[in-house]
Amino acid sequence: MNVLERYEPLVDDVEAFYDACRRSLPSVVRVNTIKTTVERAKRALAAEDIAFEVTEWNPTLFRLLDDQPGANWPYVHGWLHGQEEVSAVPARVLDPDPGERIWDACAAPGSKTTQLAALLGDTGLVVATDNNLGRISALRSNTERLGVTNVAVTAEDARTHSLKPFPQAEYDRALVDAPCSCEGTVRKNPDVLEDWTVEHVEGIASVQKGALRRAVQATREGGTVVYSTCTFAPEENEAVLDHVLDAEPCRIEPFDLPLEHTSGVTAWHGKQFDPAVQGAKRIYPHHNDTGGFFCARLAVTG
Ligand SMILES: C[S@@+](CC[C@H](N)C(=O)[O-])C[C@H]1O[C@@H](n2cnc3c(N)ncnc32)[C@H](O)[C@@H]1O
Repeated sequence: MNVLERYEPLVDDVEAFYDACRRSLPSVVRVNTIKTTVERAKRALAAEDIAFEVTEWNPTLFRLLDDQPGANWPYVHGWLHGQEEVSAVPARVLDPDPGERIWDACAAPGSKTTQLAALLGDTGLVVATDNNLGRISALRSNTERLGVTNVAVTAEDARTHSLKPFPQAEYDRALVDAPCSCEGTVRKNPDVLEDWTVEHVEGIASVQKGALRRAVQATREGGTVVYSTCTFAPEENEAVLDHVLDAEPCRIEPFDLPLEHTSGVTAWHGKQFDPAVQGAKRIYPHHNDTGGFFCARLAVTG
């Protein structure tokens, strides 16, 4: 089966969806405002004759028109970080304030951790957790290259994350950028659909539910949790939200997103979800010429 066929009933323009999934992904970099400014990064790329355009919705994201993210000196210096356009959405939706304590529950290799650190102006604390030691080395090396000093890394299972080493108690905000079946990365890695099984989707959904529940528990009342994946599967998206809305004190919050998207779906394969999941946003590859993505913002109520 072509895995993507299962999403035809959800997609607004099926032909445009397939066309976009077959095209390769634009190369995008984020300006690391801990080490430089947007203007200096623009001048550095211009001096190297590297053509770029700034994305319409985020002035720190540049599309490189004929270059690879890591093939220039501003990247090596830590002024730039290669980050897919939609991957920059969740940290913007979490919207941290300087000085806050943030938990990044599934953090490696650190694109969003370092983006959160920059949004905090390298103040406060980002606890960056992952359970994969190899990917944690990449996370460490990215924080080092980007000159980040407010990140503490923990190697553990997000589902049983311990607050003990960080005695100030709960977080102000948490991000769960969950491990997933990665269908939305098909433009970068066309093989991703070859090993797809419904058993894997169901297995990973159980990890996602556990990590998101722990994030709500570890965040203070009135705090914010963002849940994101790069998959289209409602089992890993709306069904996870539906489960956590039922199990933990939280509600879905509306948020603005200046990118084309559709709303979360309330029914899938005979199951009905809490209507509030419509507050989540689905981004399909043809909407903005990006990868596929899913993002929801939760307010912690107890
Ligand atoms: C989508 S990736 C995260 C990408 C990362 N947020 C970034 O922007 O660079 C999901 C991550 O979850 C990690 N992971 C998988 N199961 C986990 C678990 N039970 N606890 C913590 N991390 C887990 C994987 O090792 C992987 O690095």
